[in-house]
Amino acid sequence: MKVLVLGGGGREHALVWKVAQSPLVEAVVAAPGNAGIAALATCVPLDPEDGAAVAAFCREQGIGLVVVGPEAPLAAGVADALAASGVPVFGPSAAAARLEASKSFTKEVCDACGAPTAAWARFTEAAAAKAHLARTGAPVVVKADGLAAGKGVVVAMTLAEAEAAVDDMLGGALGAAGAEVVIEEFMTGEEASLFVLSDGETVLPLAGAQDHKRAFDGDEGPNTGGMGAYSPAPVLTPEVEEKALARIVRPVIAEMARRGTPYRGVLYAGLMIEAGEPRLVEFNVRFGDPEAQVLMLRLASDFVPALMACATGGLADVTLDWRAEPALTVVMAAKGYPGSYARGSEIRGLEAAAAVEGVTVFHAGTRADGGRVLANGGRVLNVSATGATVAEARARAYRAVDLIDWPDGFCRRDIAWRALARDGA
Ligand code: AMP
Ligand code: GLY
Repeated sequence: MKVLVLGGGGREHALVWKVAQSPLVEAVVAAPGNAGIAALATCVPLDPEDGAAVAAFCREQGIGLVVVGPEAPLAAGVADALAASGVPVFGPSAAAARLEASKSFTKEVCDACGAPTAAWARFTEAAAAKAHLARTGAPVVVKADGLAAGKGVVVAMTLAEAEAAVDDMLGGALGAAGAEVVIEEFMTGEEASLFVLSDGETVLPLAGAQDHKRAFDGDEGPNTGGMGAYSPAPVLTPEVEEKALARIVRPVIAEMARRGTPYRGVLYAGLMIEAGEPRLVEFNVRFGDPEAQVLMLRLASDFVPALMACATGGLADVTLDWRAEPALTVVMAAKGYPGSYARGSEIRGLEAAAAVEGVTVFHAGTRADGGRVLANGGRVLNVSATGATVAEARARAYRAVDLIDWPDGFCRRDIAWRALARDGA
C-alpha cells in the first residue's frame, strides 16, 4: 500500500518514520514534508489544506491511506473530501474536528455528556463579557473560540489582564477566531495529555505524555508550540487514566456518534489533574507535536492496521503493544522563536547526533540544499531518545544535542524535570 502523510513538521517525520516500518507499506509520500522526511518518503508540493487537490492526487497515485498530521486540513474538510472520493483517511471530518476548532462547541459537548471540565460562559459582546468577569474575578482564563495558532488562550492573573484579553479578541486581534470568547474557571493541578484512537465507536487508548510549553528553562518565557516532551507521564497513573477514559473520553466519543458526527482519528485530551481527579482542559483532533515523536518511539506494534481501522472501522479488533522504556524529545528551535527568527542557517553534526545510542533525530523545520540541511522554521529539530529510565533517555538526548553544530539554535536543558523531580533524581 502507498500512504500519504499530510504535513511537514516533527510530528509528521515521526509518523512517516513509523508508517515506513510497516510491512504493509510499499511507499510513503509526504506533502510537503521536510529534509528529514525526504530520507524516508517522496516529498510533493501539494497543498495539504486543498481537499480537492489532495483527493485528485490520491486517485492518480493509487494512495491507499492518508494520514493527516495538523489540525488545519481537518478543520478545512480535507478528510471529508477524501472520504467522499473513497480514499481511507486517518483524521476526523470537519464536523468532528470542531472539538479543536471551537472551544464553545467542546464545552457544549462536555456539558451534554457530563464530562468534567472548567465552568464556562461564552460572549460576543465585550460589555457582557466584562460584567461576567466582574463576577468571577481573577485568576480566570479567556479563550478565543476558534483556531488561533496557540495565541488564543490568556491565563489572566488579574482582572485588568482578562479585560484586555476580551478587548483584544473581540476587537479583532485574532480575526474570526476571536469573534466569540469563552471565559473559563482557572483550574489548578498538573497537566498531562492522553492520546486515544477511535473509529467512531471503539476507543483504543495509546499512551500519555507531558510537554513543556514555555520557551525557557524553569517554565519561563513565552508560550510555544512545545519545547520538549516525554512519555509516559508519571501523573497519569493507570487509575487517573481510567477515570479520564470513563468520565471524559468515552462519553465524548459516544456523544459525537449520537450527534451523527462520529469522531474518527486520534483524540488528544489535555487534562488538568488535581488530587487524582482529571478534568478536561481542551481537546485537539490530531497528535501533539512534539508528543507524537515520543509516542512513536514507544510504540512496538505496526501502527498501520490501527490507523486504517480508524478510517474504515474495526478498531475493536486491534491491539497495540508499547515499550515500557520512557522516551523523551528535546526541541531545538531557531533563536528568536516563538517570536521572529531567521531561516536558512546550516545545521551540522546530525549524523554524529543520530549515532548516539538510543537516539533518533526528527526534523521539524528543515530543508535540504544540495547535501546541506538548513533551518526552515521556528521549531527545527526534535532530538529524541529512549532509555531504561527518564534520566538515561535525557542524558542520551542532551549528548546528541551537544553534537549538533548549529549556532543559530537553542533548546531547553531541563526537559522532563517534573518526571525527574518525582523520581527524586
Ligand atoms: P492551549 O493553547 O489551548 O493549549 O492552552 C494553553 C494552556 O493554557 C494550557 O495548556 C493550560 O496550561 C492553560 N489553560 C487553558 N485553560 C485553562 C484553565 N481553564 N485553567 C487553567 N489553565 C488553563
Ligand atoms: N505540543 C502541544 C500541541 O501539539 O498542541
